[in-house]
Amino acid sequence: MGFVRFDPWNPEFVANPYDVYTELRRDRPVSFFEPTGQWLIARHADVNALLRDRRLGRSYLHVATHEEFGRTPEPDFQEPFWRVVRAGMLDVEPPVHTRLRRLVSKAFTPRMVESLRPRVRKIAGELVDGFVERGGGDLIAEVAEPLPVTVIAEMLGVPETDRPLLRPWSADICGMYELNPGPQAQHTAVRAAEEFAGYLRDLSRARRDNPGDDLVSLLAQVVDEGDRLTEDELIGTCVLLLNAGHEATVNVTGNGWWSLFRNPAELDRLRTAAAAHDGTPDTLPLLATAVEEMMRWDTPLQMFERWVLEPVTVGGVEIPRGAEVALLFGSANRDPEVFEDPDRFDVGRTDNPHISFGAGIHFCLGAPLARVELVESFWALLKAAPGLELTREPSWGPGYIIRGLESLPVSV
Ligand code: HEM
Repeated sequence: MGFVRFDPWNPEFVANPYDVYTELRRDRPVSFFEPTGQWLIARHADVNALLRDRRLGRSYLHVATHEEFGRTPEPDFQEPFWRVVRAGMLDVEPPVHTRLRRLVSKAFTPRMVESLRPRVRKIAGELVDGFVERGGGDLIAEVAEPLPVTVIAEMLGVPETDRPLLRPWSADICGMYELNPGPQAQHTAVRAAEEFAGYLRDLSRARRDNPGDDLVSLLAQVVDEGDRLTEDELIGTCVLLLNAGHEATVNVTGNGWWSLFRNPAELDRLRTAAAAHDGTPDTLPLLATAVEEMMRWDTPLQMFERWVLEPVTVGGVEIPRGAEVALLFGSANRDPEVFEDPDRFDVGRTDNPHISFGAGIHFCLGAPLARVELVESFWALLKAAPGLELTREPSWGPGYIIRGLESLPVSV
């Protein structure tokens, strides 16, 4: 395999971006990438600092118009997509972000998430039991995907019969988040956003009139000092929770098992610890550190972008207002300045300040839930399928930003 430069559209690069990252961190930690017009930021210290720096934002529309920022306005046909996306907290900045995050956090508390653990354990157990009875299959489609989709759909109160709709809508919307999406992907994302929003509008109206104990009903009622979510904000929040609530978790599960298979001594270490453990999975320290290491070593979300709202200097390079930076999470997570022996996959790594959940005001709201799901699903498989093995080398899906395996064929 020859030297592949930073090339997010190249399957060879997507399969292993880490060698290129090593060179970027060493030789060009801040470099302009012509094909997307973005500044690539490769070092952990810079990525971490920029995520927390209020001179940058996920949006610029609270301080400038598209024209003032030297950008072409989005074409009219994309309006339904942006209307949904910008009504969620991830694509807005303070003061709107502060308001939305505060309201949603009232319904989505770490305590509420922890109370879900028994239910998550039951769903994981049932999925894994079926998988083992069948002798294995595609771990992504049969375990990794259905677990977080079921959990978030149950939380939000999406009826079981409607759940098959969620995954395709989410995947189509996510197509817009890859770099330079083509016209087909853009139209598909817009249509999915429209359909998804329509579905959630009906669901939230039904819950407003007839509340249950689900998150949609709760979100429709949360009030903070007289403030509440508008209907668009409620819809945008539910779309965000449903999408963010499973896409990355699926990929950590798939990438994580693939990391374990590629590092058999580490897999053995985890299996031995699981076999010897009498308690519940949340009391096994090696499982907790293993999940964090999987998120670091093969990062599920490789890049996040920010707009430069006021000029900043990064690693001696001046980046002007109106520019866009691409923060390379996968590179930051392998930075030798922060991680000892960073290319080594070590399930017992305790000093692990990985950046996979982000940092600063947009730090992942669902991190506690993601951790519960991952610990429970790895535990269920380690316990019920101690002989789990690969039957064929898996292949990577086309996504670079949302990076995961197409399938993971295994036998038990
Ligand atoms: C392992 C799985 C997950 C990973 C790696 C992940 C990663 C991230 C990252 C990196 C961000 C920040 C993006 C940025 O700064 O531009 C984020 C934000 C967010 N995540 Fe997650 N996430 C995961 C699971 C979840 C789950 C399960 C949920 C909810 C059920 C969730 C809900 C959110 C929300 C609502 C935000 C927006 C927060 C804000 O803008 O203030 N995530 N996530």
